[in-house]
Amino acid sequence: MRIHEITGQAGRSRILVGEVMEEAARFLPEDCPLFIVTDDNVQRTWGHRFPEARTVIPIGTGEGIKTLETVRDVCSRLLEAEADRSVFLMGIGGGIVCDITGFVASTYLRGVRFGYMATTLLAQVDAAVGGKTGVNFMGYKNMIGTFNQPEIVLCDPRHIATLPPSELGCGFAEIVKHAAIADGAYFRELERLGVKALDLDPGVMEAIVSRSVEIKARVVGRDEKEAGERRKLNFGHTLGHALEKTTGMRHGHAVSVGMAFAARLSAEKGLLSQSAVERLENLLGVLDLPVRADANAAAVIEALGRDKKRQGDVVHFVLLRGIGEAAVEKIPLALLRTLIPETVAALDGSTPR
Ligand SMILES: NC(=O)c1ccc[n+]([C@@H]2O[C@H](COP(=O)([O-])OP(=O)(O)OC[C@H]3O[C@@H](n4cnc5c(N)ncnc54)[C@H](O)[C@@H]3O)[C@@H](O)[C@H]2O)c1
Ligand SMILES: [Zn+2]
Repeated sequence: MRIHEITGQAGRSRILVGEVMEEAARFLPEDCPLFIVTDDNVQRTWGHRFPEARTVIPIGTGEGIKTLETVRDVCSRLLEAEADRSVFLMGIGGGIVCDITGFVASTYLRGVRFGYMATTLLAQVDAAVGGKTGVNFMGYKNMIGTFNQPEIVLCDPRHIATLPPSELGCGFAEIVKHAAIADGAYFRELERLGVKALDLDPGVMEAIVSRSVEIKARVVGRDEKEAGERRKLNFGHTLGHALEKTTGMRHGHAVSVGMAFAARLSAEKGLLSQSAVERLENLLGVLDLPVRADANAAAVIEALGRDKKRQGDVVHFVLLRGIGEAAVEKIPLALLRTLIPETVAALDGSTPR
C-alpha cells in the first residue's frame, strides 16, 4: 500500500492506494457511527464488501443526479437516521458519489467528518483527490460547492476491474495529463506499458494510480484554491470543455483531443518539439483515446470564447514546454480560430488534416 498526503487550509487528506477495501474499517475513526453514500451500480457490484455501517444511502446513478435535490435527499436520510455531528460520512463510488458526499459532509450540521472509497479510475486519480466538492446547478457544472478535504481516501485497484470499459478513457486521459504536465519519467513508463495498461493488472494499476495521486496531491498541496499552480491540471481542459459542451463527447475523450491540440499549439509557439507532440498523440492513441474530434469548429470556437479563463481577447491556456513540464500562457483568440479547424472537423464533411 502507498500513502499520500495533502495538507491544505481545508484540512489534511490521507490517500491510501492498494488492496484496501476489506481493511477499510481499520482506517476509519473508531467512535463515529459510519454512514455510507453510494450509487446503485456500486452497491450492486461491491455492496457485500462494504464496511459495516449504520445506514447505506444509495443515490441512483449518472451526472443527472449531481444536484441539490440529491443533496436534499441524502440530508433527509441522515436526519431520519438521527445522524449528529459525531458521524463519519463515507462516499463509496465514482466522482459523482464523491462530489455529492463531500458537499453534504461540508454543509450538514455545518460540517461532519468524511472520506471516500473511490471506485472508478477517474475518481481514484482525480475526483477524490484535491478537496473540490459540488453539484451542478441550472445547467452549469459544479456551480455550487466547497473546498473541503476528505480525511481519508481509499483507492483499491481491484475496483477498476469491474468498471464498464467505456469508463476507463476518462481515467486514462487524466493519467496521461498528469505525466505530461509534471513527470517525464512517468510518461516514459506509460509509453513502455503501452496497450498493456488496458489489461488493468492490479499491481500495475496500483503503481499508476499512486503516481497520479502523488502528482495531483503535490500540485494541490502548493495551490489548494487554484490561484496559480493548480491551473496546470487544466491541461487539455480548455478546448476539452468546449468540445464537451458542443458535442456531448465524454469528458476523457474531449480532454484527450484538448491535450493533443494544446501540444500542437505549444509546438506552434516554439515551446515543444514536433517529436514530443507525436509522442503524446501516440500514447493517447494506444490508450484508445482520440486526438481529433468530429465537431463544428465555429461552435467550438464560440464556446471557447465563453470560457471562464478568457480575459478580453486572450484565453489562459496550459501549454507544454516539454514532456513533463507545463506552463500557463495567454493565447489570443484569433490564433485559436486559425488552429482549431485542424483539430476539429467541420460537420459539413470536410476532413481534418
Ligand atoms: N471534485 C473534483 O475535483 C472532480 C474532478 C474530476 C471529476 N469530477 C466529477 O466526477 C464526475 C465523474 O466521475 P466518474 O467518471 O467517476 O463517474 P461516475 O461516478 O458516474 O461513475 C461512472 C459509472 O461507473 C459506475 N461505477 C463506479 N464504480 C464502479 C465499479 N467499481 N464497478 C462498476 N461500476 C462502477 C457508476 O455507477 C457509474 O455508472 C463528474 O461529475 C465530474 O464533475 C470531480
Ligand atoms: Zn478532467
